[in-house]
Amino acid sequence: MESDESPKPATFWTQTNALMRKNISLQRRNMRANLGLIIIPLLLCLMIFSMQKVANIIMPEPEMHCDCVECIDDDSKESCERRCSSALEVILGKSINCPEEHPPKLPALFQLPMPPFRATRNSSSSTSSSYNSGLPDDSCRKNRSCAATILITGQNRSQAQSIGKHLFGSKPLKNPSDLVDPLSLASEFILGTSEFLPSTLYFDPAYMMGVEPLYIVHPQCNSHITFPISIKMAGLSLSQDVMCVDGLALWRENSSVINSELYMGYKKGNPNNRIDEILAAYDFSNTNINKFNVTVWHNATYMSMGPLLRIFRSSNAASNAYLQFLKGANVKMLLEFVKEMPKGATKPSIIDVSTMLGPLFFTWVIELLFPVMLTYLVHEKQKNMRIFMKMHGLGDLPYWIITYAYFLLLSASYMLCFTLFGFLIGITSFTLNSYCLQLVFYFVSVNLQIALAIVFSALFSDVKTATVVGYTYVFISGLLGSFLFEHFLQDASYPRTLIEAMELFPGFSLYRGLYELAQYPYHAESIGGTRMSWLESISDNQGMQTVLIIMVVEWVAFMLIAYYLDHVVSSGRGVRKHPLWFLPQLHGKQDCKRQRQGYDVLINMDRPDVAREGEIVCKLIQEPYRIQAVLCDNLKKVYPGSDGNPDKHAVRGLSLAISQRECFGILGPNGAGKTTFINMMVGLTKPTSGTILVQGLDICKDMDKVHTQMGICPQHDLTWDTLTGREHLLFYGRLKNLKGDLLVQAVEESLQAVNLLENGVADKLAGQYSGGMKRRLSVAISIIGNPKVVYMDEPSTGLDPGSRKKLWNVIQHTKKSSAVILTTHSMEEAEALCDRVGIFVDGYLQCIGSPAELKARYGGYYELTVTTPSNQEEDVEKIVQNLSPAATKVYNLSGTQKFHMPRQGLRLADIFREVAAAKRRLNIQAWGLSDATLEDVFIKVANEAQSISDHKLYKKCD
Ligand SMILES: *[C@@H]1O[C@H](CO)[C@@H](O)[C@H](O)[C@H]1NC(C)=O
Ligand SMILES: *[C@@H]1O[C@H](CO)[C@@H](O)[C@H](O)[C@H]1NC(C)=O
Ligand SMILES: *[C@@H]1O[C@H](CO)[C@@H](O)[C@H](O)[C@H]1NC(C)=O
Repeated sequence: MESDESPKPATFWTQTNALMRKNISLQRRNMRANLGLIIIPLLLCLMIFSMQKVANIIMPEPEMHCDCVECIDDDSKESCERRCSSALEVILGKSINCPEEHPPKLPALFQLPMPPFRATRNSSSSTSSSYNSGLPDDSCRKNRSCAATILITGQNRSQAQSIGKHLFGSKPLKNPSDLVDPLSLASEFILGTSEFLPSTLYFDPAYMMGVEPLYIVHPQCNSHITFPISIKMAGLSLSQDVMCVDGLALWRENSSVINSELYMGYKKGNPNNRIDEILAAYDFSNTNINKFNVTVWHNATYMSMGPLLRIFRSSNAASNAYLQFLKGANVKMLLEFVKEMPKGATKPSIIDVSTMLGPLFFTWVIELLFPVMLTYLVHEKQKNMRIFMKMHGLGDLPYWIITYAYFLLLSASYMLCFTLFGFLIGITSFTLNSYCLQLVFYFVSVNLQIALAIVFSALFSDVKTATVVGYTYVFISGLLGSFLFEHFLQDASYPRTLIEAMELFPGFSLYRGLYELAQYPYHAESIGGTRMSWLESISDNQGMQTVLIIMVVEWVAFMLIAYYLDHVVSSGRGVRKHPLWFLPQLHGKQDCKRQRQGYDVLINMDRPDVAREGEIVCKLIQEPYRIQAVLCDNLKKVYPGSDGNPDKHAVRGLSLAISQRECFGILGPNGAGKTTFINMMVGLTKPTSGTILVQGLDICKDMDKVHTQMGICPQHDLTWDTLTGREHLLFYGRLKNLKGDLLVQAVEESLQAVNLLENGVADKLAGQYSGGMKRRLSVAISIIGNPKVVYMDEPSTGLDPGSRKKLWNVIQHTKKSSAVILTTHSMEEAEALCDRVGIFVDGYLQCIGSPAELKARYGGYYELTVTTPSNQEEDVEKIVQNLSPAATKVYNLSGTQKFHMPRQGLRLADIFREVAAAKRRLNIQAWGLSDATLEDVFIKVANEAQSISDHKLYKKCD
């Protein structure tokens, strides 16, 4: 504090360093909250983990029964034995996930209608008989012996019917002597079943445990003939009986007749509510001996869930019939069997909780940080913390760098914690995707989210609103992503460009990325997949590429938008700029207009002191080399009225010059415009017109430089509850470019000066300070680093007399090196500290001068109080009139009278002599003589000002 010169403005790195150190101590105290935040993913992972465990207990992973060999450990000699007791068990016990190296060869079957539904002639039917001509009689339904019917048509009837004869083979049916196996049977006859198809053809239930029997379809069945056949399966051979069903091939006129008859097969298509199912139908069309052209109708409804139809047999039957029609019954076109391809074992599907939670859950978890960051930013803005730091010289860039770094660190730890625990408990989208892809994706999305939070923070100035909006955003974007966006995503017909357009919404791009990350494991799992490499995953995945590009571009764009909004909208930075500030030639009205010559100044010529101050300012402003601490020229602030109210003039044409090392006191009743004036000086609000020069720097152009030269003690303390007093001072000291020993010394001195060193108060958290202690800390902050100009807004409110006395000493000391501008309601303080005082009323400067001058000018009288018995009042009045004919009585109450006596030509000695003389004659019980106080001046000025209606006098400043 000794040195007269304040240090140079702090460099960018010094500011960054100062803020970083402050934030580190702040966040260290906040560690619990931060850790709590980072722990959330851990808890969520634990939740998933336990849900998975519960799910595993409720629905255990199905066991793989791939063979019946079981090893039993008896008498230390391991013996493995066959345990499957029947072939049924072999087949039933086999899970779909078992490997199938040698799929069985199974004869292709016809899909037969069930016996009760096979088409018959309807005896009661009144409909045209052309539909069911040739069909068997209804009575066959009773003993389930109805024939299976095939319909044929073609351009050449005789030819089509000859082909039709060969459809069911022509070999006569005879009882085989021994067991035959199905393959050899199928090469001679047509086999069929009414059994529904299973999901896989590795084994067709029709061969073994089907409900419906296996049939031979033959033109001439010997009614209930059955064959035993033997089937070899898994090393076992079982026998089953095969029954016979009549095959009937009926001619129909054309394909549309066939169509309507087939339609009758459905209950809904039949007017009599019957079901008349047909086996199959063929249209031989223009087939001749040189050309085979056939259309096959096949009932696909029988395919219950499996991928395959029993269609091979029906098309082969037609080809075979055509061949035999051409070449005779001895030539055959064989379809011996159908065999599936071998397959490896697959993993049994189990309930995977993380897959079930899906991208929605992950979106929410990641977006959870968004409201946290938004609230943090808006809080600093609402509490004016940022602007306050800025006023002490903190630049915008260091502020954003440190804030961004903090958010990034927080998000990174959060995501790291999430992925790490997710990985440990085996969430597949973490374990199976390329680590590199995940790293890039999460890094980019976290950055985008920070940028988004910064953009949002510009739009809110209230923490509560910001919190609500932040959480709503998270909630809504997740839900929309899951229920709307994903729907479009899965709809292949939805144009991809529209999807990409939707991804411009950050919530959706995050959702898309997570969706893509979930896709691969979902597919990989069923094939026992391994982790994909970065190259594979990024080159194949068009969706992921787009998302990453969109996110990076948006991140840059949001940073630019945030920068712009920070200048134009946000009040966290101080004075707003014009929306087109970066194009000075475009926004016409320049922000920093400064008229130099010949302009009118509104000055009340009734007040010579104010008028003189105006003249001084007029001169000084044209001599820029004579630097004043503060120079205000014709400063005005008008708040535009709304709803038809008149404009509110808070400051009306103020001119003021404050020199270096002067303490200027601003007095005035509440609402006189003092705080508006201070706010304009410190760059919190923008003047409507007028110029302010601080240390020769125009605040309109060089506010950032001005900020490095000033200190502020605001009316409401701006301190961090979780920092100690010493840490506050260290931070602001660093911002003022104090370093090393100098810093420590300055902090120590400041603490000493404001009486904060006792009882270790300096090392207690500011949150535990009493109001007075905070006030003293605020004062200490404002003077650390020897700023050239210090603004103090009612610095001594709430202080005990002892502390106030110390504070005054501090201000006296500060005055030696800086200009101090002080507002106060304590006249005592103003008299003790201020070199000059200005009294503000209604936006005008009513008077200006040193306290003594003002007292002389506005007081200009002595105040005499005399107490006598009431009957002697007149005598006293006479004596006073003798002393000073112009004296006035201001007060009289039962013998106590108060007079104002003009000083002019009055000597104190005369008054004392007269009173002493009067004492001898009269019964003077008490008397007192006092000078006019500044308080009297204040009241007088304030009262007079109200009577001045308007200031009509103008003066040219040139
Ligand atoms: C129908 O087919 C038979 C046998 O192929 C042939 O003899 C006859 O000429 C054909 N009829 C017509 C009208 O093409
Ligand atoms: C096709 O098969 C289904 C399933 O058995 C049956 O309900 C339907 O009636 C059949 N349709 C025809 C035209 O045979
Ligand atoms: C096969 O038959 C269909 C249906 O009658 C007919 O439209 C098509 O032209 C025929 N194809 C040939 C090559 O004759």
